Amino acid sequence: MSLSSFVAQLPKCEQHLHIEGTLTAERRWKCAHANKIELPGCNSLEDLKKQYLTEYLYEEGQDATKYLQEFLEVYYASMNVLLTEDDFYNMALDYIKVAQSQNIRYLEAFFDPQAHTSRGVKFETVMEGLLKAQKEAADYNVQLHWVLCIVRDMSAESGLDIVKQAEPYKDKIIALGLDSDEHDNPPSKFQDAFLLARSYGWKITAHCDVDQKNTHEHIKYVVKELAGSRPEFKKHELDNPDLYLLPKFTTGADRIDHGMNTADTTELLDLVKAANLGLTLCPMGYQKHLGPHNVFPKVTKIYNYGIPVTLNSDDPAYLVYSKTGTLLGVADGCKLTAKDLYNFEKNAIRMAWTSDIEFKRKF
Ligand code: ADE
Ligand code: ZN
Repeated sequence: MSLSSFVAQLPKCEQHLHIEGTLTAERRWKCAHANKIELPGCNSLEDLKKQYLTEYLYEEGQDATKYLQEFLEVYYASMNVLLTEDDFYNMALDYIKVAQSQNIRYLEAFFDPQAHTSRGVKFETVMEGLLKAQKEAADYNVQLHWVLCIVRDMSAESGLDIVKQAEPYKDKIIALGLDSDEHDNPPSKFQDAFLLARSYGWKITAHCDVDQKNTHEHIKYVVKELAGSRPEFKKHELDNPDLYLLPKFTTGADRIDHGMNTADTTELLDLVKAANLGLTLCPMGYQKHLGPHNVFPKVTKIYNYGIPVTLNSDDPAYLVYSKTGTLLGVADGCKLTAKDLYNFEKNAIRMAWTSDIEFKRKF
């Protein structure tokens, strides 16, 4: 069997996926038309599609901070077409269908409510649209959970406020994450919001994006301090899959999104491994912008160190690579076999936050 046939039939999980990063040109065009919003420089869907291709592809050798900031500027501006419950529902349903077509059976997806409430959209509008799609995901053989993300270049007060607004939905959201521009926006800025999220019983995760300023300190803080200090390091428990199926409710984060700079020092590799944290890597977008030689060796190093990692598409509408394309691209870049790709998906289901243990065992 070819590697691409193997990947196509492999049941998959995706745990680093921004739902707003799945907003296709087609959906954006429909929302803009329905909501009477102008798309500058676009007289047709074809114009808009061309913008996706030209604006979002960067050259190798880019500075990582600049790349992230430029990407985020375009990314947040594109969301202005999302206004109604149906807009959020349709965007999410579009991706659920993509997930089904790629045999993605388990999905934890981020959403950025502040990107919408700051434009006057009600938090409830966002939530109700996303929850309606979540209910229907089962019809497509996809188990879906929502991870609320704080937009870290907004204020600490705004971050805390959005978590407070989510209180009526606390049983319908699985975790709190942290995304957007990391430059001078350390995870410690949002400690109060993360403490509140823990009190809701949510899991905790945060982006430690690639090659950002103070990334090593951010990784350490997320592992040791986010949502409260981790009391002590337990013996590494990955060898016992059953224990990992039921991760202990620790303080510090439960996961790191990206965290690729863990590969830079033995201290960080040991720290992340000892804390039994998984990393949700998204190598394909970054290898395009930073160069494959700056990305794939780090993925290999983390994987070989025995840290559980998953491979994800991040923002597939913009970064082009799908979940399937990511698995195949990383297999090529890191010289991996079908067995390795199977291991990545096994890690992913072990790291999954569902309380449906039977689903995990049968996966
Ligand atoms: N929001 C969407 N994609 C992101 C990324 N790669 N990093 C930080 N925030 C994001
Ligand atoms: Zn991300």
